Amino acid sequence: ELASRMRVKASEVIAKLMGLGVMATINQAVDVDTAMLIATDFGYEVEQGITEEIGIQLLEESQEGGVAEPRSPVVTVMGHVDHGKTSILDAIRKTDVAEGEAGGITQHIGAYHVRSSAGDVTFVDTPGHAAFTEMRSRGAQVTDLVILVVAADDGVMDQTREAISHSQAANVPILVAVNKIDKANADVDRVKRELSDYDLIPEDWGGQTMYCETSAKKGIGIDELMEAIQLMAEMLELKADRKRNAKGRVIEAQLDKGRGPVATVLIQEGTLKVGDYVVVGMHSGKVRAMLDDRGRNMKTAGPSIPVEVQGLSGVPQAGDEFVVVTDEKMAKNVSQARAMKAREAELGASSKISLDKLFEKM
Ligand code: GTP
Ligand code: MG
Repeated sequence: ELASRMRVKASEVIAKLMGLGVMATINQAVDVDTAMLIATDFGYEVEQGITEEIGIQLLEESQEGGVAEPRSPVVTVMGHVDHGKTSILDAIRKTDVAEGEAGGITQHIGAYHVRSSAGDVTFVDTPGHAAFTEMRSRGAQVTDLVILVVAADDGVMDQTREAISHSQAANVPILVAVNKIDKANADVDRVKRELSDYDLIPEDWGGQTMYCETSAKKGIGIDELMEAIQLMAEMLELKADRKRNAKGRVIEAQLDKGRGPVATVLIQEGTLKVGDYVVVGMHSGKVRAMLDDRGRNMKTAGPSIPVEVQGLSGVPQAGDEFVVVTDEKMAKNVSQARAMKAREAELGASSKISLDKLFEKM
């Protein structure tokens, strides 16, 4: 019926449906959303943009139920400012990021994929400074587990507590690294006592939380920390389908003078390839190039891998979802529709504010 109303062959409609992953027979009912999407494809005017959103949904659904294969864990490092998060990652990666940071303070999220004999791990570093609550909250949302770094000479502080609440809110298991144990005034037991108030009771005290004692500076306890991560990750039985179209989340993004908009994306499902069309928040694009965390070119990136993507139409927001779509048209339409919706919402919000203001004055 849909075909005859559009004056096209039923087989053409069926072919289009199959292209969207919907297996249909000639007399099968399709829902309104699908019908609208198909009609758009045949050049009929229906509410633009919304239909493409549905297209993405259908595309996603068509890919569900693929083969789930093991993937490496994503581990976010959190804790109070200066407690040694970046230093621990430096010790694991045998690099020196902390040294090069302005004022010794991390001001962005870094994502690193580390290969080790104990297994591969993707680490997400977060800032501990009070100003970066947003980033910590986001870090807790993309991760499989959290390493809570607490300096043994300083104990539980404001952002330690904040990190615990982000992790617990996101339902992410916590592994504690009591760091700076090389310091003269280090007091590991005090840290354990303080954290026990937050439901992080150490295993050796009859609780469920794993603690590692580390000195990033002296390289103590780092191997044990890696082993603890692997142990916890194994229990989570992490899996992803690497054959489907890629889907992920933006960790951070900025405008680069030479390369244009660049976004660090953590792939969560599927495999991202150079040349893929993507929608990310209110922007779209075609992946022009991908770099790994050491600046090396990559052609593909699978689940749990962080990549820096070039080729986007604009700078997305950290936390935005990143989805591969079938073609350029779909990518553009969805991003435009989203941008329009956002503008409308903004206009709506500002007129509401002015109304409120009006009443205030009366
Ligand atoms: P933010 O990202 O700003 O929150 O800080 P951070 O937690 O990443 O701390 P960072 O790794 O930058 O380390 C802060 C300071 O503590 C640096 O001067 C490090 O050299 C020092 N530090 C880190 N780990 C240790 C350690 O195990 N022992 C000692 N003595 N100093 C350490
Ligand atoms: Mg840091």
